Amino acid sequence: MDKARLTLDPAFAIGAVDRRLFGSFVEHMGRCVYTGIFEPGHPAADADGLRTDVLELVRELGVTLVRYPGGNFVSNYRWEDGVGPVGDRPRRLDLAWRSLESNAFGLNEFMRWAELAGVEPMMAVNLGTRGIVEAAELVEYCNLPDGTAAADLRRKHGVARPHDIRLWCLGNEMDGPWQIGHLTALEYGRLAARAGHAMKRVDPTIQLVAAGSSKADMPTFAAWEATVLEQTYDHVDYLSLHSYYDPESQDEASFRAAAVNLDGFIDDIVATADHVRAKLRRQKRINLALDEWNVWYQSRFTEPEDRPIEDTPALIEDDYTVTDAMVVGNLLISMLRHADRVTVGAQAQLVNIIAPIRTTPGGPAWRQTIYHPFAQTARLAHGTVLRAGVQSPTMSTGRYGEVPVVDAVATLDERSGRLAVFAVNRGTEAVPLDIDLRAFPGLRPGQWIRLAEDDPSIGNTAAAPDRVRPRTEEMPALDGGRATVLLPPVSWHALSFTPEEKP
Ligand code: AHR
Repeated sequence: MDKARLTLDPAFAIGAVDRRLFGSFVEHMGRCVYTGIFEPGHPAADADGLRTDVLELVRELGVTLVRYPGGNFVSNYRWEDGVGPVGDRPRRLDLAWRSLESNAFGLNEFMRWAELAGVEPMMAVNLGTRGIVEAAELVEYCNLPDGTAAADLRRKHGVARPHDIRLWCLGNEMDGPWQIGHLTALEYGRLAARAGHAMKRVDPTIQLVAAGSSKADMPTFAAWEATVLEQTYDHVDYLSLHSYYDPESQDEASFRAAAVNLDGFIDDIVATADHVRAKLRRQKRINLALDEWNVWYQSRFTEPEDRPIEDTPALIEDDYTVTDAMVVGNLLISMLRHADRVTVGAQAQLVNIIAPIRTTPGGPAWRQTIYHPFAQTARLAHGTVLRAGVQSPTMSTGRYGEVPVVDAVATLDERSGRLAVFAVNRGTEAVPLDIDLRAFPGLRPGQWIRLAEDDPSIGNTAAAPDRVRPRTEEMPALDGGRATVLLPPVSWHALSFTPEEKP
C-alpha cells in the first residue's frame, strides 16, 4: 500500500484564516426561505415565524456570514416589496425561478433572523432590472440613521437602529445568459462602477463585491474578469466567483478530485486581477469572494421555462452522500489553501436548496452529510493557514489527468497553540498518511474526527437523520514528532494537536 506524507512547518504561512470564509447563502428560491428558515405556524417557530430548530442547526454549523436575497432571484427583485406592513406587500411573479413570491419575508425579517443566527449579512443589489438609484436607496434604507427619506422609512417600519450592513454584492452572475437583465462585461462593468460609486457616497465604509464568472467554463471567463475590473477597480473590494460540481456530469474520479478544478479557477482569477492591477498601476489588491460553491446535481435540474408557475416549489433539494461530503471538505481545503486571496466564502445554499440543512414543512430539520465537514472546519480552522507539503500516490481522472489521492491543509491558532490538519482521501483505496510535525516540538495528539462509511453512497434522511455523522478516533501517539494515520477510501479528516500542558 503506497503511503502519503504530510510535512508541516510554522514558518510556511499562507495567510490568516478570515472567518468570513465560512459563509452561506439564503435565496428566495424554492423552500430555502419559506418552510426553510421561515414557517409561521410550525411547532418550532418563534413569534416572528422563524424556525428555531433550523436556527439551532445554523448556529451549530458555525456559519459566520449569509448572502441574501439571491442569486438569480435578486436580478428581478424590488427590495421595497419586502418591507413595511406585511398585509400591504405585493404578491409577485419571480422571473428567475418562475415562482410566486408572497414577500411575507423581506429585508427586516432577514436581518432579525441574521441577528438570532449570529451571522454577518452580505446583501446583494439588483443590477439586472434595476440600477444606481435603487441600489443607493437600499444602502440608505439599511445604513443611515435618520433624516433621509429611505432611512426614515426604515424607522417608520419599526427599525430604529440602522442595520449597518458592511458587505454588498453588485448584482449576481451578470455574465450568464440565464440571468434576468444579463449584460456584456463592459455594460456590467460600467453599471457596477456607477452603482458602487453611488452606494459608497451613501456609506463610504461599505465593501463591494463585483460579480465575476458564474463558472470556470463560461466562454467569457477571464476576459469578463479583466474587463469588469478595468471598469470597477477603484470602487470595489472583492471580485466574486461561483463554482458548483455535478457528480453526474463527469467521471467519478474527476468529481472526487473537484478541488483540483477550484484550485486552478482561483489561481487564474488571482492572475487576472493582478494583471489588471499592474495595468492600472494600482497598489490595492482585489481579493476574491467565492460566494456560491457546492456540490450540485445540476444535470437533474429542470429549467424554469419547463416548469409550471408555483408557490414555494421544492427546487433542487439534492440528497447528499458521503462522497459529496468528502468533496465539500476538499473544497474547503482548497479555499483555506488560498486564504491569502480568497477571504469571503458562501456555500450555496443554507437550507433545502442544495443545502447542508434540510426540513420538511411542519416536520423536522436534519443535517445532510455535507453539514459535517463544514461544521468541523468552521470550528477548528483559526489563526494562520500553513502550506502543507504533501507527497501522495496519484489517481487517474478523466478531466485533470493524474492527481494526488491525498490532499491536505493545516491551520495554526497562535492564541491556543492548536494545530488543525484537514485531509481527504479522494481515492478508492485506503492510504496510510505519515504526518511529520518535527517542526512543532511540544505538541501532543488531540482529536481525530473522520467522516467515512463502508458505503460512500449513503446519506441522511428525515427518517435516518444521523446515519452518517463524524466519528472520533483514537489518535496514534507522536513518535519523534511523527504519527501515521490510516485514511479509509473516500474519507474526510480533521486532526488536531494541542500544546503539552506545562507541569
Ligand atoms: O444557488 C442556485 C443558483 O445558482 C443561484 O441563484 C445562481 O446565482 C446560481 O446560478
